[in-house]
Amino acid sequence: MRSILSAGVTALLLTVLPAAAVTVKKSEYAKLPDGSPVSLFTVTNAKGMEARIMTWGGVLVSLKTPDRTGHLADVVLGHDSLRDYRADTGTYFGALIGRYANRIGGAQFKLDGKTYKLPVNDGSNSLHGGVIGFDKRNWTGREVPGGVELSLTSNDGDQGYPGTLKTVVTYTLTDDNALRLHYTATTDKATVVNMSNHTYWNLKGEGDILNNLVTINADKYTPVDEGLIPTGELKDVTGTPFDFRKPTAPGARINQADEQLKRGKGYDHNWVLNRTGKGVELAARVEEPTSGRVLEVFTDQPGVQFYTGNFLNGSVKGKGGKPANQRTALCLETQHYPDSPNKASFPSATLKPGEKYDSTTEFRFSAK
Ligand code: GLA
Repeated sequence: MRSILSAGVTALLLTVLPAAAVTVKKSEYAKLPDGSPVSLFTVTNAKGMEARIMTWGGVLVSLKTPDRTGHLADVVLGHDSLRDYRADTGTYFGALIGRYANRIGGAQFKLDGKTYKLPVNDGSNSLHGGVIGFDKRNWTGREVPGGVELSLTSNDGDQGYPGTLKTVVTYTLTDDNALRLHYTATTDKATVVNMSNHTYWNLKGEGDILNNLVTINADKYTPVDEGLIPTGELKDVTGTPFDFRKPTAPGARINQADEQLKRGKGYDHNWVLNRTGKGVELAARVEEPTSGRVLEVFTDQPGVQFYTGNFLNGSVKGKGGKPANQRTALCLETQHYPDSPNKASFPSATLKPGEKYDSTTEFRFSAK
């Protein structure tokens, strides 16, 4: 009788009590020169994992996750202050990227017969949405269950792109240690959209990433020209330093005499993900041998930019005022392929009125 009763009480409690709680706390990160506040959202799950996201750039400021002994470390690169984030025009540490992640060749594209010219901010190309991309805007933030919702309206003609783009990005943390990014956008004129997040991961929390074991679920990648614009070819990775189908350290082949590695100053390429369906599927996995931390990236996007922090050269200060050095982090930027608006053979990044851009990427953490 007693056990039946207590089983009943347990069942009742399970239905009445909310699932293990993810808490969200809002505070002020800093003020912009015009006095407007930049908010910081601290999201913590039942296992102690903590993500901090600010409204400026929608930046993932820090992410603390346990190693194999339960020890928490911050596994993302960033700056110490808003002033430093605003002064940094080259790294995109932790930021949301839009309207178009990565490069558009010749800083222009044609859509429905009309040519749109974009800001030139990378050689002769337009990179990461232009000079004042989504990474340099103060988003509107509000708490939602499990995380934060950020919204931004980009006006018609903003950075040369057509259409008023209404964007909502949600960061949520789950109790099984996943950070989920959900992106939506709508437009009132045909346009192109390709949103991403530019977090620099260092799963050890220090040192370089050359011995991390990286797996990328891709049989092909998109080779680039000297300006890092895809040539249009989808190249088989077999027998090349771009074959990460089995766990491989980036350092094992990064210095090989290879024209593509030379052009990227290391890995800075888009992989063509092997996909079977429509939802989120495994894009990449990173295992850090010392801490045991594992990151798995799941996405519904067709590509991922694997970038080994080649342009970090110590001139930019990271957290604690320490120089951010080359190869001290890696990025896995889920995306449509670079320069898709100029490549009819690539999956289309066009968004039309009445359609909804809707994309999800999950960063799942564990330790082994
Ligand atoms: C992307 C690009 C790189 C570089 C970084 C930001 O990963 O592909 O070439 O511009 O962003 O520094």
